[in-house]
Amino acid sequence: MTVATVYKQGWTMDDVHWSLFDPSKVEPALLAAIKAAALVEYNAPDYVTYLKRVFADAGQETLASLEQWGREEAQHGRALGRWAEMADPSFKLEEAFARFRKGYTPAHFSGSAEGSVRGSRRGEMIARCVVESGTSSYYSAIRDASDEPVLTEIAGRIAADEYRHYKLFYDTLNAQSEPDLGLWKKLWIAVGRVRESEDDELAYSYYCANVLPEEENVRPYNRKKYSRMAGQASMTIYHRHHIQKLVQMVIKVVGADPHGWLANLAGAVLWRRLSAKSA
Ligand SMILES: [Fe+2]
Ligand SMILES: [Fe+2]
Repeated sequence: MTVATVYKQGWTMDDVHWSLFDPSKVEPALLAAIKAAALVEYNAPDYVTYLKRVFADAGQETLASLEQWGREEAQHGRALGRWAEMADPSFKLEEAFARFRKGYTPAHFSGSAEGSVRGSRRGEMIARCVVESGTSSYYSAIRDASDEPVLTEIAGRIAADEYRHYKLFYDTLNAQSEPDLGLWKKLWIAVGRVRESEDDELAYSYYCANVLPEEENVRPYNRKKYSRMAGQASMTIYHRHHIQKLVQMVIKVVGADPHGWLANLAGAVLWRRLSAKSA
């Protein structure tokens, strides 16, 4: 078994070994998924603005770490986008992103309310941890599935960043002076965040990333259809252990035992759901 390289925080685009790119190793389904992921990652500045509003009086250190987090997420978008442009010259990150941004703006990004849409800072951090658990597992799965050396490297670098993001938000969650939330409330927030992703974010990013502007008339957006296609493109890369790790990270955030019955049950249910989607 090969041991994956452990990448440190603070890498730049110049650290990636782009010259090793091998077009013969590009896998079409993975390429489609990477294009969509690039758009979602590249959208990070909107999240930073929103989170800084929620944590406005949390102190300079927290605000600085949110800024740094946003820079890293945007770089994930740039790195994935550049790789996708090399693999498919018809793909243009900036163009596809402009379309995605125009058509996808969650209500909490456009509003100016100070509070979190999750009801509390703790709720906000639970939702962030769910996303970072998802991305950490997703890029680990891509790293393990890819035969293309540059994508393997980028996915490895991103997966390591996502895991650090999870830890950042987990620590921020536990540093809040607000009272802790009950287990079911925490689970409710976590499941709610998963369902949000299944909504427009993933379907529409997949659409903008994989349907060219000139094709829009003949291939109009349909949430259900593109949600299914996005699911199929990404889910084939997962193995059972990636999903179990994801579930354990989420279960830890809600305060239950990552190796207990709830984690085992949730892992089995999620794996069945994903297997059914990718079939
Ligand atoms: Fe990311
Ligand atoms: Fe992240």
